[in-house]
Amino acid sequence: MSLQKVVFPPIVAVFNHKGGVAKTTTAGNLAACLAALGYRVVLADLDAQGNATGSFGILPLPPVGAMDVITGRVPLDQALLPTAFPGLSLLPATTQLRTAELELAAHERSHQALREAFASQSIADHADIVIIDCPPSLGTITGNALAAAAAVLLPARPDPYSHEGLVNTWHEIKRLRQTANASLNVAGILLTMTGDDPTGGDVERSMRAEFGDQVYAHSIESDPKVTEAAQLGVPVAVLDPDGGAGAGYPRNWWRGCAATPATTSTLWPNPPPTARRRTPCATGGPGCPDCSAGPTSRRPGRRSKPPTPTVSPPRRRPGHSRKNRDSAGRR
Ligand SMILES: Nc1ncnc2c1ncn2[C@@H]1O[C@H](COP(=O)(O)OP(=O)(O)OP(=O)(O)O)[C@@H](O)[C@H]1O
Ligand SMILES: [Mg+2]
Repeated sequence: MSLQKVVFPPIVAVFNHKGGVAKTTTAGNLAACLAALGYRVVLADLDAQGNATGSFGILPLPPVGAMDVITGRVPLDQALLPTAFPGLSLLPATTQLRTAELELAAHERSHQALREAFASQSIADHADIVIIDCPPSLGTITGNALAAAAAVLLPARPDPYSHEGLVNTWHEIKRLRQTANASLNVAGILLTMTGDDPTGGDVERSMRAEFGDQVYAHSIESDPKVTEAAQLGVPVAVLDPDGGAGAGYPRNWWRGCAATPATTSTLWPNPPPTARRRTPCATGGPGCPDCSAGPTSRRPGRRSKPPTPTVSPPRRRPGHSRKNRDSAGRR
């Protein structure tokens, strides 16, 4: 099959070589926010730790999941699991991901297996956007995620080790663009768990100075509600939408999506009406329909109330396909 002719939905890989920087938290929250805005979202958990799967209350890990789809053993619609959030399906992690590196090594084009699987399984029939939670290493599995993705989103903590990890990750992405995916965009660097370290402000400033406008204006504050939310199997943006972490994720959704230009013009011409109404976009970007007035037009000193993700069913676009649910047959 020629992959050139396949239409992909925007695929955003959430990756950082460094562990514990909130990749999984970010992936889960963005996925839930996008689903609340009316998109059909597939959250693909490619980390053998299975934290994204567990964070939606799916434990123990199911017998069928991402690795079965990547290797073509099981069709996508049989591996997708519904979540409690309308529009959000999970391609879960399974224990097989632990041996994925070995298994994929036998694949002829080992970095392209996920992309080929998504193409042959018509991922666009199931999702308007795919968010991939990557493991904290640049092995074959992450290579597959980045080869399939239109954009990579980089969560990073403002601490010295994470800064170094981010620089390494940046170089790895540059290398991967040359070898596996020349059209991979960087959706941006999202600073996470800010405010809990007295030296964090200095590191944050130096990260912003080094990476410039690649760093999102809004960071995700350190917030104990994140742990509570994980225990409850609910994204913090839903559990505590006005909190330090919960308010941060919805503010950043558009910028991550705007980094996927190849597909936004075809599959994703505009956010659904609910998105415009519910999401005052603080980060913005060229062509962002939510910020025609621009982020700087906000009144100084006045902080807008953060948007509230909702678990109630979003209004769907006219002609919006429900094939995902029907084919999965699980809702
Ligand atoms: N904003 C936050 N405030 C407080 N704790 C947070 C925040 N974001 C994430 N955490 C916590 O930090 C820990 C690591 O988060 P997470 O699992 O999302 O990181 P990760 O980058 O996916 O880790 P790994 O590299 O192991 O996959 C978790 O215990 C999570 O609950
Ligand atoms: Mg993780």
